[in-house]
Amino acid sequence: MSSADRLREIEAEALGRLDAVADLDALAALEAEVVGPGSPVMEARRGLKDVPQEQRKDLGRAINEVKTALEAAIEARRADLAGAAEEARLAGERIDMTLPGRAPARGTRHLVRQVWDEIVDIFMALGYSVADGPEVETAYYNFDALNTPTTHPSRFDSDTLYVEWGDDPEGVLLRTQTSPVQARYMEQHPPPVYIVSPGRTYRRDTTDATHTPVFHQMEGLAVDDAITFADLKGTLEHFANEFFGAGRSVRFQPHFFPFTEPSAEMHASCFACDGSGCRTCSHTGWIELLGCGVVDPNVLAAVGYDPSAVSGFAFGVGIERLAMIRYGIPELRFFFDPDLRVLRQFR
Ligand code: DAH
Repeated sequence: MSSADRLREIEAEALGRLDAVADLDALAALEAEVVGPGSPVMEARRGLKDVPQEQRKDLGRAINEVKTALEAAIEARRADLAGAAEEARLAGERIDMTLPGRAPARGTRHLVRQVWDEIVDIFMALGYSVADGPEVETAYYNFDALNTPTTHPSRFDSDTLYVEWGDDPEGVLLRTQTSPVQARYMEQHPPPVYIVSPGRTYRRDTTDATHTPVFHQMEGLAVDDAITFADLKGTLEHFANEFFGAGRSVRFQPHFFPFTEPSAEMHASCFACDGSGCRTCSHTGWIELLGCGVVDPNVLAAVGYDPSAVSGFAFGVGIERLAMIRYGIPELRFFFDPDLRVLRQFR
């Protein structure tokens, strides 16, 4: 067999193997073997000068043709394999846009906060604004400015949590009510005043079904010229209807608070039985909602208002209490226990 024929055989064999090459590494190995420096084609080219003159031309052409054909086939195969590799990479990265997403766990407003926001909204719609006050409060704002004598039992340290601060052991405390915001606000703003003030309050109570040392209240205060108990009634009846649903009637029972005169406890007709008597209202038809009254002139005078020129009404409502009534929650501690099952019921 001539050298040229031998080369054509090698070419045919290499082309056959090319199809079976599976990846770029295997292709590079085959390339080195069939057209690399030690390959038969290159060996033949190197030996060409020793070939007799009359055979040299044919052999030279055969070497070039074989080399060119192999190189072209290898390049074509390389392009195929590179394309396939790219396709495989893209397939691996493919994203299924139709898969449902992974929803992040979402929190929810605590029930206290929901009721807080709801009752604030009811009063905002009436033109009230929201005022804020400190939870660590002075005895002056919590008691004295609110016409509460030093002998009042709510000031006993069996009832109030005092804070060690300064010389007076009973000068600074955790506020027992949101009422001190009344005095703080009026000191800073001339009348008219229409505010609500929701917030946290503290009492020295042992936890039971209806007591916890921390709870929330919302204070309300309206001061203007010629405000009367009738304004209080109309406003709070509207509130009861908004919060518990239309059709509530309200009644007022005489009570005592140091900062109002007269003072009252407001009851609303039971939203569950419409007043005929059921478990929610302990079969009385009525539910005690809040404390209220006409602002005592001493409270107005303490902040520099003229009690002969302006008058007002005030009220204080327990936020957990409203939620317990409306949702039939039996125990106050459910609001403060870290039990997600409770929170999830009020998403
Ligand atoms: N501060 C009272 C309490 O904690 C509630 C209250 C009653 C507030 C009558 C008022 C009010 O503003 O006028 O029991």
